[in-house]
Amino acid sequence: MSVYLDYNATTPVDVKVQEIICSVIKNVWGNPSSSYDLGKKAKSIVETARKKVAEMIGSLPGEILFTSGGTESNNMVISTAIQYFHTKARNVTNGLKEEKPHIITTNIEHDSVKLPLEKLFEEGKADVTFVPVSKITGAVEIDDIINSIRPNTCLITVMLANNETGIIQPVSTLRSKLKSIKDSKFHGEHSLNSILLHTDAAQAIGKIEVDVQDLDVDYLTVVGHKFYGPRIGALYFKNSAPLFPIFYGGGQERNYRPGTENTCMIAGLGKAAELVSSNLKEYNKHMTAMSCHLKECLETTFPKHCIFHIKDNNNKLPNTVSVALDYDKVTGSVLLSEAKKICASTGAACHSGGKPSSILIASGISCELASKTLRLSVGRETTEKEIETAVAYLDTALKNLGIK
Ligand SMILES: Cc1ncc(COP(=O)(O)O)c(C=O)c1O
Repeated sequence: MSVYLDYNATTPVDVKVQEIICSVIKNVWGNPSSSYDLGKKAKSIVETARKKVAEMIGSLPGEILFTSGGTESNNMVISTAIQYFHTKARNVTNGLKEEKPHIITTNIEHDSVKLPLEKLFEEGKADVTFVPVSKITGAVEIDDIINSIRPNTCLITVMLANNETGIIQPVSTLRSKLKSIKDSKFHGEHSLNSILLHTDAAQAIGKIEVDVQDLDVDYLTVVGHKFYGPRIGALYFKNSAPLFPIFYGGGQERNYRPGTENTCMIAGLGKAAELVSSNLKEYNKHMTAMSCHLKECLETTFPKHCIFHIKDNNNKLPNTVSVALDYDKVTGSVLLSEAKKICASTGAACHSGGKPSSILIASGISCELASKTLRLSVGRETTEKEIETAVAYLDTALKNLGIK
């Protein structure tokens, strides 16, 4: 039996989500823009899903935009911030005319934030500050973000929880901190309040409570395939926040994201959101119990060789165990290639290459331990038996490699 412990890479599609996707594909295939009944029904499915996604994160339905996934949502926020800055800069009175936009982020973001920002920087189109996270806690310090603010800062983007370490970042305190600062340098039209705030909540949704009212962000990225939904996503944008399209076309999604709506997948995303709204506490409790069991089994089987990177359980996702098995001459990728029946990773799935994870190193883990690290992430249906089997597979793999 193979054991899947890579729920941060992706999750299976929940059976109830599969059912609604199939039913909509079969029965409601009309174009949501069509005026006859089949179209109207499709439109109503899209709007019901929008409501459910909104409910999941505490927003209004009108603040939800369906996208192809997290990568698109993140890119859209960045490109909006740049365009908005230039729109404002056209107004000479605010003194931004000669400035380049400045964006603040962290050094542990997903590539769909990191790479567009690096590109903007390389092309001279934006200044970017990658604030390092603390090498002790793995979380960014709010003061380091605040200290990076410049008069031309237009966007702060900080992920809600990291995909490799599971560390929850202090996004919820960002806005109140910004509001509390009284610095004459930032007074005037370009005040601290005008800095747009974005969080990529891909890894947090379905694992911990995510509420845009508490977070008080302008934008939040939703990724369906991380919470047992389909491979599409959404972007929350506050009513008052600017939004510029990346694509131009047929006017769907109020022109922000044109293209004929993917009705069946949108219906699936809505159902996945509804499941999260109804069952989050239960999911969280189960994942917490399973990841505790996983840690205990690892400690018992590999005493003194098991190094858990994240000690603060209160500040991490309930499902993520980032652990180095500290045996000589065996890296995480060698171990996983021997333990073939475990589906797990050494870092983000899009980075399954040979190098130790830059995110782990940025989070204070030595290069050597980072190379020995496994990212194990449990899901809603993970059982104690599966965990025990997976740990036994690791044990056998170490023995087969002649290490143990
Ligand atoms: C934190 C984070 N952001 C964004 C993404 C990208 O989402 P998508 O795969 O839907 O483009 C991922 C997916 O791995 C992720 O973990």
